[in-house]
Parts: sequence; structure tokens; C-alpha cells
Amino acid sequence: MLLRHDNIQKIMLMKRKNEFLVLLVGFLVLSISAVATDNPAKTKGLEMPENIKAIIDNKCFGCHNTDSKNDKAKEDLNFSTFDELSMMKKVSSYNKIAEELEERKMPPAKFLEHFPDKNVTDEERTALMEWAKKEAEALVKGN
Ligand code: HEC
Repeated sequence: MLLRHDNIQKIMLMKRKNEFLVLLVGFLVLSISAVATDNPAKTKGLEMPENIKAIIDNKCFGCHNTDSKNDKAKEDLNFSTFDELSMMKKVSSYNKIAEELEERKMPPAKFLEHFPDKNVTDEERTALMEWAKKEAEALVKGN
């Protein structure tokens, strides 16, 4: 039996739809695995609870990492290279983190004027502060 011209067109269209779906699924799988593998690299070598890591990744890391365009920010605190710091520098960094949060200096007010949703919640601020203080103490005590 001969296929009518519009049937052939329909079949071609279905084939294209299938190809599109395969591409879409492939793309989704790729992007999900990219996100999954991207995360651990961010605060490499820095051991921290998941909830703390999530706050730092979302609210601090953007400015405080090696690739940051904000030179002053990464000079003062760089989470990408944090692990390479001497013990004393780590202690001082943890204390600075707690201090900046306590004084509500971070994230910077100027930045928050443009991105108010990037602020830390009170709960996140407290959690980060307590974590940083605890880490500093643990290092000083040598455990
Ligand atoms: C929009 C960019 C930006 C974000 C987001 C940001 N910071 Fe900063 N941070 C800076 C800059 C810029 C400096 C340099 C000091 C300054 O100019 O105020 C800095 C300095 C610091 C310092 C060093 C202060 C000192 O006196 O040595 C600490 C600690 C710090 N930030 C912690 C944080 C924490 C914790 C977060 C997340 C809650 C955060 N920052 C989010 C830009 C940022």
C-alpha cells in the first residue's frame, strides 16, 4: 500500500518529536549530573555539615572564591583555598566569619540593596556563626 503524502509527513513529524525527546532527556541527565558533581568541588577540602555548606554555597561563595571578580572579597576570604591556610590563619578566618555575621556586615549591605533575597535569614546567620566559632575553638584546642 502506498503511503499518502500527509501520512508520510506525520510519520516524519513523529520521528522528529522522538528525536527531540531523546535530546531533551539527555540534556536533563547531563545537567543534573553537572549540578551534582559541581557541588562538592566548591568548598573543596573544607569539612562542614551539609546545612552549613548549603548556606555558604548560596550566600557567600559567589564572592569568596578563586574565580570571583571581587578581588577584595577573595583576598580577605577564599573558600576555594581555605584548606591551604595555616592553622592560625584558619582560626583567624573562622573568627572573622563569626564577627562579620554578628555585626551584620556580610553579605555586604550594598549588594543586598540589589539582591535582597541573597541575605541570610536570622536562622542561617546564627547557624553559621555558631559553626565558625566551634571550628575556631576546635582548632585552638587541637582536635
Ligand atoms: C557580594 C559579594 C559578597 C558576598 C555575597 C559576601 N561577601 Fe564577604 N566580603 C565581600 C567583600 C567585598 C569583602 C572585603 C571587605 C569589604 O570590602 O567590606 C568581604 C570580606 C569578608 C570577610 C573578611 C572581613 C575582614 O575584615 O577580614 C569575611 C569573614 C566575610 N566577607 C564573610 C562573608 C560571609 C560569611 C558571607 C556569606 C554570609 C559573605 N562574606 C558574603 C563581599 C561579599
